[in-house]
Amino acid sequence: MQRNQWKTASEQLLAHWRRSGITHVPSGKLEANPSATEWLERNENRIFEENEGTANSDNSTAIVGAALVPTQSLSPSLPIEQAARPLAPVSNLVQGRWNTSPMDFVARQAAFQVLSEQVIACRKCEDMVCRRQRTVFGAGPTTARIVMFGEAPGADEDRLGEPFVGAAGQLLDKILIASGLKRDEVYIMNSLKCRPPNNRTPVESEIDNCRPFFETQLETIQPEYIVCWGSIAVRAVLKSTESVGRLRGKFHSYRGAKVMVTYHPAYLLRNPDAKKLTWEDMKMLMREIGIKVPGSA
Ligand code: URA
Repeated sequence: MQRNQWKTASEQLLAHWRRSGITHVPSGKLEANPSATEWLERNENRIFEENEGTANSDNSTAIVGAALVPTQSLSPSLPIEQAARPLAPVSNLVQGRWNTSPMDFVARQAAFQVLSEQVIACRKCEDMVCRRQRTVFGAGPTTARIVMFGEAPGADEDRLGEPFVGAAGQLLDKILIASGLKRDEVYIMNSLKCRPPNNRTPVESEIDNCRPFFETQLETIQPEYIVCWGSIAVRAVLKSTESVGRLRGKFHSYRGAKVMVTYHPAYLLRNPDAKKLTWEDMKMLMREIGIKVPGSA
């Protein structure tokens, strides 16, 4: 990243925050929270240094583009934000339903850095805040075409600060591999950023407390597809209380993304007979994206 790229990125970021209603950034200290503009000025050098070189060197993100856009070859000199996105519009998408125009790579990175600091500073759900070890923001490329959206961190995720790293996460990894996807090609996140005590089901008010975080993440990534794993993800993304059984098998929509609903990996571990249904769902998704499932005719 060059200094002039930082200027464009920070302008985009400010415009994005303004539209998302973010005016101040938590300082995490006793002093008052600085305004968004002030925060960017204060943190310019830090963010610039942390992202120096990223625009050309993040080849994991370039791989995302390569793997998910099989008909197009990617020039290694392509800027990352173009490399990670399809070069031609995907014709079957409903376009233009995100609230903001897409940010470039550097602005996305900076937006996530700020948002993750806000998540760490959040104290809204007392029940979870006093017990949590780590918040679990999400993981993956900020330019991913697909977001995997789960329920809430469990014990392993709470300990490591990463989503889907326990038993359910291992099953998720297997499902992704069988579908021809790699974990680091998709963005993985949850309805909640904190672990509910004893892994109890999140309640509506907790989902609502986390809503500004996950909605800003989705708006920043602007994925083409979102997979809702289980009924809590459905509540969060689609705001629906319908069962997974009734919603699966077709695409729904969230802003500019197509949404697929399937069973949560933890449910599949308890009910292995349902795995074939999730497999049908994944094949439907991969057909829609245009990626051949390994081993299929
Ligand atoms: N279950 C989820 O929904 N998310 C995780 O991160 C782990 C388990």
